[in-house]
Amino acid sequence: MKYLRFLTLIYITFIPYLLSNNSICISAESQSKHRKQGKSITPILSDKNNGTVSQMLESTPNTFNVIKYGAKGDAISDDTNAFVAAWAAACKVQGSVMLVPSGSVFLVKPVSFSGPNCLSNIVFQLDGKIIAPKDSGAWGKGLLQWLEFTKLKGITIRGKGVIDGQGSVWWNDDINSIKYPVDYTNAEAKGGMPSTKPTALRFYGSTDVTVTGITIQNSQQTHLKFDNCNGVQVFGISISSPGNSPNTDGIHLQNSQNVLIHTTSLACGDDCISIQTGCSNVYVHNVNCGPGHGISIGGLGKDGSKACVSNITVRDSTIHDTLTGVRIKTWQVRIFEMQGGSGAVQGVMFSNIQVSEVETPIIIDQFYCDGHNCPNKTSAVAISSVSYQSIKGTYTANPVHFACSDSSPCAGITLSTIELNPSSRDKNNIPFCWEAFGELKTHTTPPISCLRTGDPSHKQPHNNNGGLC
Ligand SMILES: *[C@@H]1O[C@H](CO)[C@@H](O)[C@H](O)[C@H]1NC(C)=O
Ligand SMILES: *[C@@H]1O[C@H](CO)[C@@H](O)[C@H](O)[C@H]1NC(C)=O
Ligand SMILES: *[C@@H]1O[C@H](CO)[C@@H](O)[C@H](O)[C@H]1NC(C)=O
Ligand SMILES: *[C@@H]1O[C@H](CO)[C@@H](O)[C@H](O)[C@H]1NC(C)=O
Repeated sequence: MKYLRFLTLIYITFIPYLLSNNSICISAESQSKHRKQGKSITPILSDKNNGTVSQMLESTPNTFNVIKYGAKGDAISDDTNAFVAAWAAACKVQGSVMLVPSGSVFLVKPVSFSGPNCLSNIVFQLDGKIIAPKDSGAWGKGLLQWLEFTKLKGITIRGKGVIDGQGSVWWNDDINSIKYPVDYTNAEAKGGMPSTKPTALRFYGSTDVTVTGITIQNSQQTHLKFDNCNGVQVFGISISSPGNSPNTDGIHLQNSQNVLIHTTSLACGDDCISIQTGCSNVYVHNVNCGPGHGISIGGLGKDGSKACVSNITVRDSTIHDTLTGVRIKTWQVRIFEMQGGSGAVQGVMFSNIQVSEVETPIIIDQFYCDGHNCPNKTSAVAISSVSYQSIKGTYTANPVHFACSDSSPCAGITLSTIELNPSSRDKNNIPFCWEAFGELKTHTTPPISCLRTGDPSHKQPHNNNGGLC
């Protein structure tokens, strides 16, 4: 008899929650009624504080559940205002938790979770799924990101949840622009998506940022971006979009220092990790990249800008089915511009990288250029102290390609334990070097005889401000 009551209790408490997408909405409504009546906020799904479900949703007094702020989580209603309201409350409490509960899908428009007046160490607990709107009306012109966290001290996103940019509506526009270039010119005016594609999740101007556990998928453009951040940790996350989705970088770093990325899987249509100007002390290990364009430093020095990148390590990782493996690319000046890029990339280590079916596993390209007419003798971002240790596996086009600039040759390239074999016999290519100086520490497969020994110091870098950073 007791046993039967117990079972009935379980049934009443859990089954509606598990079976119905509406149970949460109903309790959210009753919740907002309580609020209107001025009652204190009580747990959901039970008036007494002993329901297991309510404990799940409301584990500490510092937890701010978006459902309590009116989110429906039905994948159709616009939950943006509920997220904004929950954030406003969480922001006022040190170490608070903004909860996006599991079992629901929240449609959220572009939104900024913004300091600088928030207290520190806020946790964004993402257990449910957040999706982006697919109608062009939800996006302002020129929006750079969908979900933004800005000017915060100590911000963590964690949980088992998913951020889904529903990017295919944006990619299709891109694919159409290639197929039907004339028709496309007015796509935006005709109600297509804006021409500026947003980053799905962006952190700006923040310190002590952690992202862990979650999945970010089908971004409109870059999936996860850190800009002007110091102290970043990313681990145990998964990034996923199709290999042919345009410009969908995995993780993009810019002007950020002290960054640790590990134990992460990155599958996308552009660079798995892209390290841009102003980054230093970046450590990447145990990542799995592919499909995509590989792990890249740059393109740096676009339109003659100054770029500084230093102390970058990528190790113990696998890269498969990508355009490049580990790449450094700096922009070439376009023909009628007087100035090339300036600055420097210094102190880079790529170690223990397993490649498989990668077009060009090892590449430095100082002639990165988005058109033709890229001249050969202009200034470029200087590249020095780059070491490649234990890079092994298969390539489909070229094993090694070092195309350095005549005005600032690459200096201090070292290679050891390189074993790169063509994936099929007929594609057996030899390494290419141009103005690349350095040292082979071991025999390599294939032999890299084109690397020049010694120091290119006889070359005077011009227009480079001496490469000073
Ligand atoms: C919940 O909603 C999803 C789609 O929104 C639907 O596929 C699923 O069957 C629903 N589950 C229940 C129990 O109603
Ligand atoms: C909550 O606990 C009290 C006593 O601890 C019990 O009488 C009551 O039935 C419980 N309510 C539910 C919904 O489990
Ligand atoms: C290089 O970066 C690592 C973190 O990746 C850091 O521990 C180390 O101190 C840095 N080295 C220098 C010289 O700044
Ligand atoms: C730069 O020009 C030289 C000839 O002047 C050419 O052999 C070399 O391939 C060019 N470098 C690149 C990377 O195209």
